[in-house]
Amino acid sequence: MTSSDITGAAGGEPYGPTETAARREQAVRAAVRQGLVGPADPVIGLLDVADIRASAAGLRAAFEEVTAPGTPVLHAFAVKAASLVPVLALLADEGLGCEVASPGELALARAAGVPPSRIVLDSPAKSVAELREALALGVAVNADNAEELARIDALVHTAPVTSPLGLRVNPQVGGGTIEALSTATETSKFGVPLRDEGARAWLVRAFLDRPWLTRLHAHVGSQGIPPELMARGVRETYELAEEINDAAGQRRITALDIGGGLSVNFASDREHPTHREYARTLRHAVPGLFDGRYGLVTEFGRSLLARHGTVLARVEYAKTAGSRPIAVTHAGAQLATRTVFAPDAWPLRVAAFDAEGRPKTGPVVEQDIAGPCCFAGDLVARGRPLPRLESGDLAALLDTGAYYFSNHFAYNSLPRPAVHGFVRTSRGVRFALVRPAQTLDEIVAESGGDRPGALRSI
Ligand SMILES: Cc1ncc(COP(=O)(O)O)c(C=O)c1O
Repeated sequence: MTSSDITGAAGGEPYGPTETAARREQAVRAAVRQGLVGPADPVIGLLDVADIRASAAGLRAAFEEVTAPGTPVLHAFAVKAASLVPVLALLADEGLGCEVASPGELALARAAGVPPSRIVLDSPAKSVAELREALALGVAVNADNAEELARIDALVHTAPVTSPLGLRVNPQVGGGTIEALSTATETSKFGVPLRDEGARAWLVRAFLDRPWLTRLHAHVGSQGIPPELMARGVRETYELAEEINDAAGQRRITALDIGGGLSVNFASDREHPTHREYARTLRHAVPGLFDGRYGLVTEFGRSLLARHGTVLARVEYAKTAGSRPIAVTHAGAQLATRTVFAPDAWPLRVAAFDAEGRPKTGPVVEQDIAGPCCFAGDLVARGRPLPRLESGDLAALLDTGAYYFSNHFAYNSLPRPAVHGFVRTSRGVRFALVRPAQTLDEIVAESGGDRPGALRSI
């Protein structure tokens, strides 16, 4: 079996599965030849720049197709999915903004040159200082709850504010297949729970009392939420906006932020559902949202980046235990944290390459793909049928462009790996360093290395 064999057969967007696999294989080969991965750099991340650009363009086209001409639409990429400044800058070139959920993510968006008018701040625990900074910059803010709204009240009354301000609701339409990513359950910690007793009336009043509150926000959840359920949450939010505008006798709510959350198919190279399919599902479920009366904000993360990234890890040792072959690689819980700790929710495809970066062939055997962390459960795949991996080979973890380069787990003080972007040219594959690997000096420094005696002196 080659890595092409693990791809699906149906066509995807913007490249078909076969084309996507071919591009990936070319990049792996070139990464080996150019010395980006090897004994000294045993794990790296790769990002396909052309694919990222195409996904961003595809998202914009998908919503242009369903919205009335002239409708303001901001696609704010969820920075948590890929907290890498060059990626944010690339997406900004493609017309996207940023959704940020912490001061760190806000700093990254600004470092990428994203103007405050294209940044949206959401998070369930914004401090007064964070709110003050966002309002001073003119960044859009979605308040999470009544207490936070009261803090914004106080800030709005002390200084002029240009930020678009909104309120997050939890439409309570239910969860998907991954509980931890289901944000519209009855008891979710996010937003104002729309169906709780008295909540709807409180929400209408909150908007009537605040002429500067002009947006409603909902994010129904992420991976594992069916598009139809996401659309139901958006419809509930839209209906509330209509009710508020009716009560106000004017267009008090001018924009709806419909969040992100489109699931990714981790089982093959086929893109499904696509942004286009989701936009059409939305238009069918909530036609009034697209007739030009409301501006739109979206906050997609995973669906924009996941399929365009690959983790490439060297097999350090190939061993056998209880007759089970195990490839011990340099990619484990430190970067595939969710996959290791919740393998059923986050399975990854693995492709096998030889030491030269060529798709590995030969008899397929069931084997475990282990990581470098010092605990027994550090496996990124169990019993996976692949050509038998040997030391020096490479294991590629596919579809790792979102949430794998931003969810680093510092266990065992393993360094964050380098991430390289690549493009194919007529002369081969060209790479650009997106993020260098973390150095040992940096690990020591962030671990109190400049104060070894700190505890001795108290
Ligand atoms: C408020 C908000 N918006 C957007 C996203 C991005 O979701 P996804 O990457 O699934 O598109 C998240 C994910 O946690 C979120 O909490």
